[in-house]
Amino acid sequence: MLHSRSLLVIGLIISLLAVTTLSGSGQDGTPSPPASTDGGEVESGDAGEKADKNPLEDPVWQSRAKLGKMLAKKRCVICHKIDGKGGVLSPPMEEVVAKRFKSMTTYDKHVEALKKTDPPRYQASKAKIDKIVDEKDRYQKLVLWLQSYLVKPTFDNGQAKMTPQILNKNEMNQIIAFVLSLEPKPEPPKDE
Ligand code: HEC
Repeated sequence: MLHSRSLLVIGLIISLLAVTTLSGSGQDGTPSPPASTDGGEVESGDAGEKADKNPLEDPVWQSRAKLGKMLAKKRCVICHKIDGKGGVLSPPMEEVVAKRFKSMTTYDKHVEALKKTDPPRYQASKAKIDKIVDEKDRYQKLVLWLQSYLVKPTFDNGQAKMTPQILNKNEMNQIIAFVLSLEPKPEPPKDE
């Protein structure tokens, strides 16, 4: 029976190994697949106006988010607290996700700045970054961003401090569903 503490230790070792391997073999040890969410994408929809559609209304995504939470409790708690438990190396998961939902609303500005301050970085991931900019649905925008960020946190930001995460396609989909499930609820109206 594995203790959650030993899982933590194993997780830590795995991520350390991952970091060493990646830095040892040059930045892009893993070929990054073209941004696609096979098996679970929400179609980008037809042209014209459309409301942002929360993929978590789909039961498939709901069960993925549950699996994603279990996975995150193994892979991400080394650094981010989840449900108040876990590492203190970085802010709690709920917090970083809330902040990221917010930053995505000004992503286009971030990219404009990046083009000026760090053109090589923009050029290196141009296709992916442009796709994120072009995506209007905020959930899909975040999905696309996470697909790049999790495997290469510095893809659009030289200051990013998170280590690359090694996730297969299923794990990636589950983690993304979990991250989306942490969208902060709008403030409930105050009643006095
Ligand atoms: C080795 C420690 C570590 C692990 C493991 C880790 N993170 Fe992070 N994460 C960080 C740090 C540090 C930051 C803050 C990054 C920064 O300020 O650039 C961060 C930031 C984030 C952000 C916000 C990024 C942004 O710029 O808005 C998200 C989302 C995130 N992590 C998700 C995850 C998920 C999901 C996992 C598990 C698959 C995970 N992290 C595992 C250290 C880690």
